[in-house]
Amino acid sequence: MRNVYIVTALLVVLTLSLLGLRGTKFTSPPMDVFPEWAFPGMKYQPKYKHQGSSEFFADGRADRPLPPGVVPANFGPLGHALITDDHMADGRASDGSFAQGFPAGVEMNHEFLRQGRDSYVIYCAPCHGALGDGNGITKQYGMGATPTYHDGRLRDIAEGDLYNTIANGKGNMLSYADKLTVNERWAVVAYVRALQRAQQGSAADVPAAHKSELGIK
Ligand code: HEC
Repeated sequence: MRNVYIVTALLVVLTLSLLGLRGTKFTSPPMDVFPEWAFPGMKYQPKYKHQGSSEFFADGRADRPLPPGVVPANFGPLGHALITDDHMADGRASDGSFAQGFPAGVEMNHEFLRQGRDSYVIYCAPCHGALGDGNGITKQYGMGATPTYHDGRLRDIAEGDLYNTIANGKGNMLSYADKLTVNERWAVVAYVRALQRAQQGSAADVPAAHKSELGIK
């Protein structure tokens, strides 16, 4: 008789442990069976959290101020400080209007376009689409207002204006200044131009050696 109680109790425990808490969401971390000192791993690393406190520093703050004399790297909005060429830094001509063409500091070559494509695929294609037609994946999730690059206005727009949209955002589009360096932004502008050009190809663009393959005279 006693065995029946024990077996029943075990079965109840087994059932509960297998099924009892299924689907429950826990907010506190799980209990550790093995103590921290026995299995130190990546799970246990001393670290400071943002705006946390620290007993190590005299002012008690974990966030450290910049050491004196430090200047921001050529990255993000503050990076402008290091670039004296307005065209390069802001996409502006000397009269403050958006500059046409690429700044003198930009060296246009295959590698630069490739770099632009890499950034474009990561940061722009989700909305603007791989072809720049505004049909990115976000459209399927209800974001329908992303424009195509292949309309007359954006084909004719100054390079500096494209740069400005990337650097400062426009309307519903956020700035990418914290994601792309000044140089990377220009590389993306170049790639946007390449995408636009790709949609306007004509028979005249086909190299002579390939014309016959396509049946072009
Ligand atoms: C989260 C979605 C999203 C991402 C990512 C995005 N854009 Fe946009 N983009 C928009 C939307 C929405 C607009 C329309 C903004 C408006 O006019 O309100 C826009 C507008 C533009 C325009 C037209 C600006 C004009 O003058 O009318 C350009 C050019 C552009 N984006 C380039 C880019 C580039 C380059 C990237 C990547 C660095 C990028 N966008 C990333 C959503 C996005």
